[in-house]
Formats: sequence, C-alpha cells, structure tokens
Amino acid sequence: MADTTTTTTSRPVTRVVDAPRTLEGEGFEVRRPFPTGALSMVDPFLLLDEMGPKVNAPGEAIGTGDHPHRGFETVTYLIDGEMEHRDSAGNHGSIRSGDVQWMTAGSGVVHSERPSAAFLERGGPIHGFQLWVNLARADKMSAPRYQDLRSEDLPKVDRDGVHATVIAGNAFGVTGPADTRIPILYAHVRLDPGARAELPTSVSANAFVYAIGGAGSVGSDQRPVRDGQAALLGRGEKIELRAGDEPFEVLVLAGEPLNEPVARYGPFVMNTKEEIVQAFDDFQNGRMGAITNR
Ligand code: CO
Repeated sequence: MADTTTTTTSRPVTRVVDAPRTLEGEGFEVRRPFPTGALSMVDPFLLLDEMGPKVNAPGEAIGTGDHPHRGFETVTYLIDGEMEHRDSAGNHGSIRSGDVQWMTAGSGVVHSERPSAAFLERGGPIHGFQLWVNLARADKMSAPRYQDLRSEDLPKVDRDGVHATVIAGNAFGVTGPADTRIPILYAHVRLDPGARAELPTSVSANAFVYAIGGAGSVGSDQRPVRDGQAALLGRGEKIELRAGDEPFEVLVLAGEPLNEPVARYGPFVMNTKEEIVQAFDDFQNGRMGAITNR
C-alpha cells in the first residue's frame, strides 16, 4: 500500500522584535515593529504602525495633514474609531470601526488622514493600523487606486475559540476581498484561552505575526509572543498560533517578496535614489496635485 501521508511544514519563528513607541503625523503615538534600527522591512512590507488602543477625550484626537506618497500602498485598518481622508484626486470618505482602506499610491497622491469632525468632537476609543506594502518596479508609477472595504464585506470566522477577520488572501476557508498586486495574506485573529489556529501560506512568502493583545505562542517552536511584539517566521507551509491561559490577538501577514532594490525616503519608496529625487521634484512642483475639495 502506498504511503499517502503528507506533511505540512510549520514555519518556525526566526526572530521576535519589540515594537517601540514613536510619534507620527501631528504627534499621535504609534507602536512600530518596523522599520526600526533593528529591522528595516519584511519584504514586501515596508512599515507597520499601530495607533492606540487609547480613548480620546473630546477635542483630543489628531491625525496627519496633507502629505504625498509614491511607489507603494498604504493599508489602513481600524478596529475602533473613525478617520476621514481627502486626497488630490478629489476623493473624500470615512473609515469606521472594522473598515479597511487599501490605497495604491502608485505614481503619487497627496492626502490627509484625520479623525472625522464628529469623532474629534465626541472623542472615544481609537485602535487601528497602517501597513505599507511595496509595489514592484513595474507597478510603482501605476495610476492611484482606492479600495474601500467595509466591515460587513470582510469575511468573519467564529469557531473553536478562533475569531478572525480576513482582509486579503485565504484563511479558515474564506477569502479576503482586497485585490492585491502580489499575493498577500492579511488576517486579524483573536484566540480564546487555550485555542489554536493554523493559517496556510505559500512557501515562498515572507511572513510575520504581530501581537496586538494578550499573549500566546507562535510557530512550530511555540515561541512565546506577547502584546507589542512581532514574530518573524522562517520558511514553511503554515503558521501556527496558540493561546495559553489568556486570550491572544494578532495580525497575520504574509506576502511574496519583491526582491528588488529599495530606495526610501519619508513618504516615497522607489528602486533608486534618482527616482526619489524625481519624486521630491514632482511633489514640490505640484505634479502629484493638491487637495482642493475642502
Ligand atoms: Co498617508
């Protein structure tokens, strides 16, 4: 009889990094697992910022005023709160609790990202994330694009103590609605005490888990990871998560590496220094537009 046993290799944790606190935008605090002096990126991911969780007093919430982007995508996911965006293409909208805005900056946009006037006035809890996903050379100068993914459009899973929302890619038998340039897995997973979860990944993807609440363990080696730490994963076909005595809440990210040179400066991420100089010149001379719809 043939041996039909198949094994799915589980990714080990190669490194655990802390997310230091830093100030962003007009002075709001974020936790940022990368980029830091210790970890510049997890190709194709360039940056991850966690805003909050905190409760704003009335009049306290702040955001980021007009600024450009070129050469990558910004993905904003709000667990709690309400942000308003305006941009140089005339777009204007709100992201509310549970929503995602997947913005492909491409050749360039100028935008502002701020708490809505109503949220600013009444205050309240804010907890959200901004992820930067690099674009390949061939896509860096593509036309800007927005995907507004509403909470009700994001598939939710609730079973065996696992509560998940899938934004991009496949996990727990559902597929996230984000249309990505390269294969990406982006899932928000909450485990009840004692629960376990496995997320399949392509072997060639780079992957990490960022803990946003509680503590648990990650990977084939069951490495302890707690709130505010990112676990970088080695090669394998699945990611294992386990909660111990307390709940464990994480973001799971995996993406195919671009393996291209990265030249980054502030809001621009290109392949060469010359392209960065060009981006500054284009921005300063108004070729990325300006926000006019106020
Ligand atoms: Co921005």
